[in-house]
Amino acid sequence: MFADMILEAEGFAEQAELFELAPAKINLALHVVGRRDDGYHLLESIVTFADRGDRLAFSAAETDRFTLSGRFSPLLGDAEAADGNNLVLKARDRLRQLLRNKGQAAPPVAIHLEKNLPVAAGIGGGSADAAAALRGLVRLWGAEVSENELGELGLSLGADVPMCIRGEALMAKGIGEELTALSSLPSLSLVLGNPLIGVSTPDIFRRLSNRENPPIVEQGDNWLAYLKTLRNDLEPPARSLVREIDEISNLIGAEGASLVRMSGSGATCFGIFSSKAQAETAAANLSSRRPDWYFQAVQTVGAKI
Ligand code: C5P
Repeated sequence: MFADMILEAEGFAEQAELFELAPAKINLALHVVGRRDDGYHLLESIVTFADRGDRLAFSAAETDRFTLSGRFSPLLGDAEAADGNNLVLKARDRLRQLLRNKGQAAPPVAIHLEKNLPVAAGIGGGSADAAAALRGLVRLWGAEVSENELGELGLSLGADVPMCIRGEALMAKGIGEELTALSSLPSLSLVLGNPLIGVSTPDIFRRLSNRENPPIVEQGDNWLAYLKTLRNDLEPPARSLVREIDEISNLIGAEGASLVRMSGSGATCFGIFSSKAQAETAAANLSSRRPDWYFQAVQTVGAKI
């Protein structure tokens, strides 16, 4: 669905046969409502996706290859690329296994990952990459897999992978895998801001003092007013761990955002602006104030208003 946006990308893995965008995931609200026996937390989250993200390119090859580029690729390290820790490679290997079990071909493939999103940032990152790898390889290999099979495979890679496979505005429940489309959620103009301090998701969940918060109640007609009534329950533990979250959310608010929240387990915060132009101006102002941090204006998927 996102491939068309990036096919023209100049100089990006020019020889590749196909491309996938791995859009940033944004939790507009995230309520922690319980805990499973295995330690995973039960969530209710309103999730949407940006028009910006990592980019993946795929080509048939003699042997499997994996290459990296992009602003944040140094953070992934060569070793991770080589030893199969990267979720893209796990996604490739598990999809290949599934296809072989079904008697389908999954020949060697060269995958290139352009890492544009900050790492360990609460906006999907590795999960979005894994989901894009699954989408791209299904296309490249002409694989016959059902949505359910792909969703289950995604869930085995991480709780956020199934939502990233969908890539549309969603209500997510369970540990993040029970998904319902939110087709009335409008496209929003956001600024993302991250102080480039990686946050470990398990760390933040461990620091939660209350694991049984009120669930998300029924929506009203006015999405902005509605979102203001909701929270991210991971914000207090993340703010106590990363002091810069206070500063970054204040800076985004001072640019005129009508709502500022943190996404996922942080540290990325987002502000909602009333137009794309205002979000772009705010991101430019913020980048010149703090050139060492990450600021990006994005437009989310959703109905046009
Ligand atoms: O599934 P994933 O590997 O992305 O999750 C990383 C960690 O985040 C888990 O090991 C768990 O500690 C925590 N987590 C959680 N509840 C969720 C999702 C993640 O406790 N719903």
